[in-house]
Amino acid sequence: MPLPKAELHLHIEGTLEPGLAFALAARNGLTLPYADTGELRRAYLFQDLQSFLDLYYELMAVLRTEDDFAELADAYLARAAAQGVRHAEIFFDPQAHTARGVPLATVVAGLTRALDAAPERHGVSTRLIMCFLRDLSAESAMETLEAARPHLDRITAVGLDSAEAGHPPAKFKEVYEAAAALGLRRVAHAGEEGPPSYIREALDVLGVERIDHGLRCLEDTELVDRLVRERTPLTLCPLSNVRLRAVDTLADHPLPRMMDAGLLCTVNSDDPAYFGGYVGDTFHAVREALDLGPERLRELARNSFLAAFLDDDEERRARLIAEVDAYDFATEDTATG
Ligand code: HPA
Ligand code: ZN
Repeated sequence: MPLPKAELHLHIEGTLEPGLAFALAARNGLTLPYADTGELRRAYLFQDLQSFLDLYYELMAVLRTEDDFAELADAYLARAAAQGVRHAEIFFDPQAHTARGVPLATVVAGLTRALDAAPERHGVSTRLIMCFLRDLSAESAMETLEAARPHLDRITAVGLDSAEAGHPPAKFKEVYEAAAALGLRRVAHAGEEGPPSYIREALDVLGVERIDHGLRCLEDTELVDRLVRERTPLTLCPLSNVRLRAVDTLADHPLPRMMDAGLLCTVNSDDPAYFGGYVGDTFHAVREALDLGPERLRELARNSFLAAFLDDDEERRARLIAEVDAYDFATEDTATG
């Protein structure tokens, strides 16, 4: 049995595997500019975040119908569950779909169909986090929030993603204020490629409760002290950091140093179809590359539930943390743990 864990940093569009991309393209009468899945996979060599995003936005054009989104999400949930995920907080990018003429209602209906079935089908509880694309305007983000009003009972939080450099969080101050007024929780990507000041801005101007990535906090010791003091969770994505060249190799990843510093770290997969693994694979990879012992892995799993938006189900949080505390690593399936 794999270690129980929550996944808190997962872009559903980033779970689009090459096989499903080709199947959906065929179903929707679209032609991908790649001969087959092998040729597509060979395009997965990224220099930085932008080179990944170019392919990520190109490929998601195959997602058109409610069924497409339901199938995508169900495939992710099945894989995640097999790797020990018991709770998943799932990002989606409405503007990347509405810009292509796919209505927000179609996206939400497809995703929630899969999410609604997930507790029974996969033993996974879920939350949805609607992300704004930070390289688009604040007006576009505000329009997206407005358009989401009929769906807010299904959306737990707002997030901020896409190209970070040159797009500081403060641009979205009013949107985040409006989201908070609507009762939404707040997170934001910060310090993936952007400077530590973007992490401060996300906390101070946007009022976020968690920082997605946050890797570059290490360049600012006062900021690290603050994140430790305030117990701000960081949703780290080590395989993503290697593939997008934020770190040279997994062995160079600062995760152990960050844990030693007292930061509330979680480990996540980001865009698993593109970055070489789902969250269980990620746990396995960091354990090997960074020589993390069982207690370190247990701490990461415990942190994932502590940082989850499970405030409306504290009983489940407590039960899952108790499972982590009681977990016997001798029963682990190392292929998927
Ligand atoms: N960073 C920023 N935006 C994203 C990512 C990421 O890793 N994945 C999908 N959108
Ligand atoms: Zn991300």
